[in-house]
Amino acid sequence: MTESPKPVRLSRNLISEAGLGIAVVALANLGFLIYLDATRANSNPYMGILTWIIAPIILILGILAYIGGMLLERRRRRRRAPGDIPQYPHIDLNERRTRVIIASTAVGLILFVTMSVIGSYQAYRYTDSDAFCGTACHKVMTPEYTAYQASPHAHVGCAGCHIGPGAGWFVRSKLSGSYQLYSVIAHKYPRPIPSPVESLRPAQETCEQCHWPAKFFGAQLKVFDHYAYDETNTPKEVRMLIKTGGGGASGGQTSGIHWHMNIANEITYIATDRQRQVIPWVRVKDRNGKVTEYKAADSKLTDAQLATATKRRMDCVDCHNRPTHIYRSPDRAVDTALFTGKIDSTLPFIKQQSVAVLAAEYESTDAAVNAIAKAIPAYYEKTYPDIYKAKRAQVAGATTAIQDIFRAIRFPEMRVDWRTHPDNLGHFASMGCFRCHDDQHVSKDGKKISKDCQICHTVLPDATAGASAVFTHPVDIGDLRGVNCSDCHTGGGM
Ligand code: HEC
Ligand code: HEC
Ligand code: HEC
Ligand code: HEC
Ligand code: HEC
Ligand code: HEC
Repeated sequence: MTESPKPVRLSRNLISEAGLGIAVVALANLGFLIYLDATRANSNPYMGILTWIIAPIILILGILAYIGGMLLERRRRRRRAPGDIPQYPHIDLNERRTRVIIASTAVGLILFVTMSVIGSYQAYRYTDSDAFCGTACHKVMTPEYTAYQASPHAHVGCAGCHIGPGAGWFVRSKLSGSYQLYSVIAHKYPRPIPSPVESLRPAQETCEQCHWPAKFFGAQLKVFDHYAYDETNTPKEVRMLIKTGGGGASGGQTSGIHWHMNIANEITYIATDRQRQVIPWVRVKDRNGKVTEYKAADSKLTDAQLATATKRRMDCVDCHNRPTHIYRSPDRAVDTALFTGKIDSTLPFIKQQSVAVLAAEYESTDAAVNAIAKAIPAYYEKTYPDIYKAKRAQVAGATTAIQDIFRAIRFPEMRVDWRTHPDNLGHFASMGCFRCHDDQHVSKDGKKISKDCQICHTVLPDATAGASAVFTHPVDIGDLRGVNCSDCHTGGGM
């Protein structure tokens, strides 16, 4: 019996062979990477991208090239000899070879699908991890990641606030994330990265997973420790009960900031800038459906402009806009360092000097760190030579502490600091609550959004100010209700 010569395999073509080569190499790599990923305690973000995104893509491309090459080869042969090769392949299950091929393909397919399910779950987990969000884009998110790690939410994942539960927002975030990845690679991203207010998921669906307003109650004691810009860095402590309040109507006492703002009332407003610092118009719909509109006395918006402007329903993030990316001002950061002893408060004018070097403009973080290393010792050597001799260690300690502060609060490479991302929670170094509570937002019947110093907090008497329970300003600046604190307290020096 003569057997017809064995036909040349379809996979004997350049594309399929190259594809097979790529797939084999990718598979070997993938195995090695998975092994590394599994055995190393903290894998770095690039490893994750390589293991769960890039290597599988290359593997799949290799397999596709292998199959594609075979199909092309088949078409080529059919075109050369149309009669010889039928349109569809013969599959004869009586042949052992065919059975082996089908069985091994099925096993391969099951293995591959399982692997890719695990792989895509890993890719999903990985692209939702804080390490990916915070460091994969390297310097772009450094400010957000640095501030986050020092915040009360350091153990709440980025995804907890930026994505939240459910599939819809997950897909949205990955789509916009792909564009962001592209813009990082193409260096097209804006500096600083704008705050995503309008694309941020509504706070009810994120924050309220963990905090819900009906559970707030009472007041919160907060202590603010300040140091003056004078020679002795005079301390001034402000202790106050902040009337956080709230409570569900069923839970008894209903009062305070959260109750008025979030639970009882629906507040809508118009802002004329992206950072929402200028708010010319506010509307309140109270529990009973009564509507009051307030307009800023100095607003130049016409009724037509008001009607067409974008309105935003106020939620948690309008006050808590920096729950985790807290860019402290030099003033505040130095106060904390003096209070905790990181900077020695017996050094004359140390508050003033620290804030001055921290608030100055620099090209880069390295330039700043070097400048600080020279400026602080030089100041004491020149102005207080005796103290410099006696307290060299303290001066050196202060210098290091100031450098650390710089790295934590200023990001010249991304142009981010307390001025580009103001905190809206109070009213000290930015307008915050006074954006609306300024006695200047007036309704038609003459009602004002109040700047009364008692509606939001009660000052407790401090040890230095006798028994008075109102806040007394250290220097006389007249009626406090008539000024904005942030006009003078800029956060960057007096
Ligand atoms: C507790 C909730 C929360 C967590 C956790 C969180 N963010 Fe945010 N993030 C916000 C809010 C709220 C804003 C918007 C602020 C605004 O609109 O004014 C924001 C804004 C941002 C911005 C825009 C720039 C800016 O600073 O306003 C970036 C970038 C960002 N977050 C990245 C991250 C990364 C990376 C992580 C994890 C390391 C993270 N976020 C974790 C709440 C959070
Ligand atoms: C996954 C849960 C989770 C989510 C989501 C979350 N938080 Fe928190 N939040 C926490 C935890 C945990 C703390 C720390 C409590 C503590 O330290 O006692 C906290 C603390 C806070 C505090 C008190 C901070 C302080 O200085 O003590 C505020 C204010 C706050 N969160 C607001 C928000 C806002 C606004 C959002 C939405 C943008 C949000 N949180 C989203 C879990 C969460
Ligand atoms: C007209 C400018 C001006 C305004 C407006 C102003 N302050 Fe001051 N404030 C000062 C000066 C000047 C000092 C003393 C500076 C120093 O030697 O440290 C001071 C000191 C303070 C201190 C003591 C800590 C420190 O830095 O010395 C606190 C707290 C303070 N102010 C709070 C407020 C608050 C709250 C408001 C808004 C209600 C406000 N200030 C409005 C000018 C102002
Ligand atoms: C009108 C502004 C405003 C709005 C809106 C607001 N808060 Fe607050 N919240 C405050 C202030 C002010 C404090 C006092 C804390 C401080 O001064 O550090 C506070 C405190 C908190 C605290 C810590 C204290 C506590 O009682 O546990 C949490 C948590 C919190 N808010 C969550 C939320 C959430 C969640 C929302 C949205 C449902 C929200 N807040 C809406 C102003 C606001
Ligand atoms: C977008 C404008 C806006 C901002 C920003 C704002 N508020 Fe209000 N607030 C209002 C309006 C409007 C009312 C209700 C006035 C009324 O009774 O009609 C109100 C009422 C209140 C009340 C009840 C006042 C009373 O008379 O009992 C408290 C407390 C309060 N706000 C606290 C705060 C705090 C704290 C902040 C800053 C963290 C803040 N608000 C920021 C608009 C604002
Ligand atoms: C609409 C609410 C509201 C009104 C009105 C208000 N405050 Fe405040 N104030 C706050 C909140 C909220 C904080 C806490 C900010 C924080 O947690 O960082 C605060 C903080 C302060 C502090 C401590 C700031 C610091 O950093 O040391 C002082 C002092 C103060 N207020 C004085 C005043 C005086 C004086 C007035 C009257 C002109 C006034 N406040 C009116 C909401 C208000």
